[in-house]
Amino acid sequence: MKPTIELQKEIRALLKQRNALMLAHNYQRDEVQATADICGDSLALSQAAAKSDADAIVFCGVHFMAESASILCPDKRVILPRLDAGCPMADMITAEDLRKEKEKRPGAPVVAYVNTTAEVKALSDICCTSANAVRVVNSVKSDSVYMIPDRNLSMYVARTAKKNMEWWNGFCPTHEKLKPAEVLKLKQKHPDAVFACHPECRPEVIDIADHVCSTSGMYKFAQETKAKTIIIGTEMGILYRLKKENPDKTFILASKSLICPNMKLITLEDVLEALQGMDRIVQVTEEIRIPAKKALDMMLEVPRD
Ligand code: 13P
Ligand code: SF4
Repeated sequence: MKPTIELQKEIRALLKQRNALMLAHNYQRDEVQATADICGDSLALSQAAAKSDADAIVFCGVHFMAESASILCPDKRVILPRLDAGCPMADMITAEDLRKEKEKRPGAPVVAYVNTTAEVKALSDICCTSANAVRVVNSVKSDSVYMIPDRNLSMYVARTAKKNMEWWNGFCPTHEKLKPAEVLKLKQKHPDAVFACHPECRPEVIDIADHVCSTSGMYKFAQETKAKTIIIGTEMGILYRLKKENPDKTFILASKSLICPNMKLITLEDVLEALQGMDRIVQVTEEIRIPAKKALDMMLEVPRD
C-alpha cells in the first residue's frame, strides 16, 4: 500500500490532467476529505459540480449523490469511485412503491428528501434537504403532503409545518442506532456540553437535543455556540472539519455506532484507480433526468426565510 501523501500527490496530478473536480461529502474518510477540492453536504456538492467548468466530477459520497450531480450537470462525466456505495435509506422506497402510494392520495404532492434514487425523484413534485425541509413542505400549495423516504425527518418536519402530513416508513440505519440513554449519559458526564443532532435521528433523541440541524448546519452551530463542548449526533466523518475549524472546542461523538459503512467504502486507492480508468460512471438517462431535475429545481426556487 502506498503512503497517503503519495496517493494524494498522484490523485491531485491526475485531477489536473483530466480537468476533473474532486468532491467529498462531510461523512467521507478524513484523508479523502483532505484530498478533495470541495467538502460539503449532498446538495451543495452537486451545485458546486454544476457551477464548475471541469470535464469530470469525482464524487466521493454515495450513489444518490452522484446521481444528483449527473442530473444537474449532464454534460460532465460523473465518477463514483465505488459504485457499490449506496444509501440504504434511499433504497427503502422504489419507484414502484411510490407509484402505489401516489394512487392512494391523488391530491397530495410528494416531497422527496434528496436521499432518494433519481427514478423516485422523477416521480416526485419537489425535493428537500434536511436543511430546508420545513420551508419546502410549507411552500407546497396543498393542505396535504406525502413525504419520502425518512420517517424521522418527516416526523421532525410535522412538529412545526402547517400541513397534514403522511410519510413513508424509511429510516437511516446509522442515525437510527443512536438512543437517548447514550446521550443522557454523556450529558451527565459533561454537564456544560450542548447536544446537536441530525433530523434523521429518532424522535426521542430529537426531544433531548439543544439543536437539530443538517450537516452544514452543524458547522455553523459549532462556530456560533458559546459552549466549549459539543456532543455530536450524526455520522463521525463530520468530526474531521469540526475539529479543524474549531481547535478551541471539544467534540464528542454521541455514540460509537454513528458510522455509515457505505460512506466509508471509498479509499484514496479507489479514487486513484477511478481516475486512471476514467470509469465507474454514474449517468442518469434523459427520460429520468428531466423530471428529476424539475423536482430539484422546484426546491431551489423556494424562497429563503
Ligand atoms: P446531507 O444532505 O446533510 O449531506 O446529509 C446526507 C446524509 O446522508 C445524511 O445522513
Ligand atoms: Fe444514507 Fe444514513 Fe449513510 Fe446518510 S448516513 S448515506 S442517510 S445510510
